[in-house]
Amino acid sequence: MATIGVVGLGTMGLGIAQVFAAAGFTTITTDAHAPARDTARARMADALAARVTAGKLSEADRDATLSNLRAVETLSGFAPCDLVIEAIVERADAKQALFAQLETIVSATTILATNTSSIPVATIASTAQNPDRILALHFFNPPTAMKLVELAPHAGTSATALATARTLTEAAGKTVIQCPDRPGFIVNRCARPYYGEALALLEEGIPAAHIDAAMQAAGYRLGPFALIDLIGADINLAATLGLNAAMGNHPRYHAFAALRDQVAAGHLGRKSGQGFLFPAKTDPAPDPAIALRIEATLVNEAAWLLTEGGTSAQGIDTAMKLGLNFPRGPFEALSQHGKSAILATLAALESAAPPHLKTRYLPAPALEAL
Ligand SMILES: NC(=O)c1ccc[n+]([C@@H]2O[C@H](COP(=O)([O-])OP(=O)(O)OC[C@H]3O[C@@H](n4cnc5c(N)ncnc54)[C@H](O)[C@@H]3O)[C@@H](O)[C@H]2O)c1
Repeated sequence: MATIGVVGLGTMGLGIAQVFAAAGFTTITTDAHAPARDTARARMADALAARVTAGKLSEADRDATLSNLRAVETLSGFAPCDLVIEAIVERADAKQALFAQLETIVSATTILATNTSSIPVATIASTAQNPDRILALHFFNPPTAMKLVELAPHAGTSATALATARTLTEAAGKTVIQCPDRPGFIVNRCARPYYGEALALLEEGIPAAHIDAAMQAAGYRLGPFALIDLIGADINLAATLGLNAAMGNHPRYHAFAALRDQVAAGHLGRKSGQGFLFPAKTDPAPDPAIALRIEATLVNEAAWLLTEGGTSAQGIDTAMKLGLNFPRGPFEALSQHGKSAILATLAALESAAPPHLKTRYLPAPALEAL
């Protein structure tokens, strides 16, 4: 059985290590910060204990998982690994330096995967001796609970590395969706209109509670504002600004003033005690036109990504359902509403768009061609 390495034992790394250890893989881990290394086993044991108490895991399976975990002090302990996943600090130079060091230790066929959320895989691979073994395996938080993993090659990733990374990650129980090395991969990019279009409606004077009610009536578990309140307005703004910069400040990724104002006021959501809606609960009558408008922009963003290549409509739908708990993927929403309703909604929005949003609603070529 393959041996897996995980570097970085923070929020993501520890969870990723647990996923592979629980699937029976010997999992070698480390962290530059000694306490993170030294507490890894105890932290994983705590996470597993909660599942035993809840009756979701047997004591024997807990013990087997823990026995598959090794924490080593130096990277030299990673020599036996077939796949190493890094979940260290989100900085290109740190990830490049780590992979450069690993390349002197692991075998020529060992796959080096990054869990980056925002750095191009090509950038991380650009300084490698052997860039064809480098790819992204993007897990979601918490890795133990979230089924989805986005698999992103850069232009030089070998087909063998891609296939092996998929096989190993699927063997650990995940649903792997391939996507291009583009900003935000699938989920973090295609989710933007869910929040952005809600903020556009808010800017037009529609109350946040009405917008959330419309999306909940359309089957979404949480409305856009409840979701921002849950995740944090600061995290949402950072993700929007990151994508906005990476996509040339296109108005599709506009950072709305209302979101900036929330962050400036410290109204971050649940964690600060005050958000767009939190802690208030209201229940206005849902307006289906709001849901159609938000779904039209979700469809269009997904179609823009499809236009760029490297993924499929079915892959995007699966990723959006697993990554965000959406009741349907954007292309399923397209079938439900019909292409003419979506295109007409986008056309009406584009013609009414204020100057800062002009071109936001132009339909993707893939949408017109579908
Ligand atoms: N947190 C999320 O929701 C999430 C989701 C998907 C992807 N990611 C990505 O996963 C990566 C890790 O994120 P996180 O939230 O787990 O961070 P974290 O801060 O919780 O953990 C990072 C760990 O890496 C260690 N570390 C830093 N530099 C190191 C190095 N050079 N060598 C070894 N260890 C090092 C730190 O000591 C820390 O324990 C980032 O690239 C992030 O963008 C995060």
